[in-house]
Amino acid sequence: MSDSSQALRQNFQQAGQGHVFDAWDSLAERARRRLVRQLEQVDLAQLAAMRAAITAVAGPVPRKLSPAPAFAMADESFPYLLHDAARAVVPVGDRALRRGEVAVILVAGGQGTRLGFDGPKGCYPILPLSGMTLFEVFARKLLRAGREYGRTPPLYVMVGNHNEQATRAFFEEHRCFGLNPADVKFFAQGELPALDDNGRLVMAGPDALWTAPDGHGGVIAAMHSKGMLADMRARGVRYASYVQVDNLQIPVVDAAFLGLHISEGAEVSLKVVRKTDPAEKVGIYCLDDGVPSIVEYTEFTPADSNLRGQDGRLAFWQGNMAVHVFGLEFLQRLADTSTQLPLHAARKKVNDAEAWKFERFVFDTIPLANRVVCMEVPREEQFLPLKNPDGPFGPEGVRAACQQYWKKALKLARPDLAEPPVIEVDPALCENARELATAIQGRKVDTSGPLRLEPQA
Ligand code: UD1
Repeated sequence: MSDSSQALRQNFQQAGQGHVFDAWDSLAERARRRLVRQLEQVDLAQLAAMRAAITAVAGPVPRKLSPAPAFAMADESFPYLLHDAARAVVPVGDRALRRGEVAVILVAGGQGTRLGFDGPKGCYPILPLSGMTLFEVFARKLLRAGREYGRTPPLYVMVGNHNEQATRAFFEEHRCFGLNPADVKFFAQGELPALDDNGRLVMAGPDALWTAPDGHGGVIAAMHSKGMLADMRARGVRYASYVQVDNLQIPVVDAAFLGLHISEGAEVSLKVVRKTDPAEKVGIYCLDDGVPSIVEYTEFTPADSNLRGQDGRLAFWQGNMAVHVFGLEFLQRLADTSTQLPLHAARKKVNDAEAWKFERFVFDTIPLANRVVCMEVPREEQFLPLKNPDGPFGPEGVRAACQQYWKKALKLARPDLAEPPVIEVDPALCENARELATAIQGRKVDTSGPLRLEPQA
């Protein structure tokens, strides 16, 4: 054993993890090198945080929660109106977009286990007529932004080790869906090991630790270490619009949201949807002991979940959509100070046995920000995530909700037309009902069969 491998082994032994070298003597030279390379990546100092995360699951501490301020919508009925202040600052967001100060971070590094789709979730064909995939939907939203603002925001796609190759190949095969390849960057997030019930690192085999993606909260460390923050800075980017690949209806950039973020001097902003069912399983934006935070529904007491304000509505209503704007300076500060977001533990199947997996959550940046802005958006317009094989967040549920929305939008835009049997709106044309009205004004539209609305050449 070389000196460095010997030192590594000692470190693991001292940390009570000597078993990772159990098979060493029987390993071939290549397997040994592979194991050493992997173990060198493990931050043993993190073991204590992992154990603490497990303890936190067993006995969550009571929290002092109170509702947080938000820019709630001015009109909650279709076709909806955002808060007056949000509409007033659209020109501010607009200007940032025209100046090329906005980038898009698309997180697509999850394992998509719940959906049960073989391949990156972004390759899922979701639109009803063209069969357009989620990745293409996002690319076409960017093309539209480019048309609208004269600058196409650069796209940073976070992938995992398990799907990086497939994702890159998919974009290459489709020539980046019309985006400039120089403006599309992929970066792989980090991985974290798992612990068994005795606090021992779980092995995937004699020469490998079992690891999994470190959660969407890994985005900051990964952007830093892979040079993405530097790339953004070099391009003059100041704000990053963060969206999840599973949310079909989310605009990639939103001038009102960006405008609020900028004019309010926020470091992190988030979009929320109104929770109307106290039992809905969604993280809630609120004040945790006075500090803006997202608190998982599991940590709410029934009394808090059901608490109502004077208007009779739920007091804790701000459902997290996992959509943010981040100031680049804020991300850089977290990276420069090596700020570690907290670990969250979950019991999962690992190698046919139960063990503890760990993730970091991107919304744990919220309590670290000097100023946070929260904006409400319409659920049916902006929140249609594809998560499961069936149900409302399965492909059929998502397509049905999408149909319902665009049929209403078409009726609003063109009351003169009959309802088409199926409608598909190209994301490069528009992203919501109000925009549809402008986009197809005066256009000849045939609704006697399936209708696909695209930008006109
Ligand atoms: C998440 C939020 C929840 C929010 C919901 C909205 C958490 C704990 N909860 O739930 O509050 O209401 O989204 O849709 O996050 N991803 C990575 N790398 C990872 C893990 C995930 O890139 O290591 C990406 C996935 O590709 C996906 C997104 O993050 O685009 C969401 O991940 P997912 O695990 O599906 O989040 P949810 O548990 O559904």
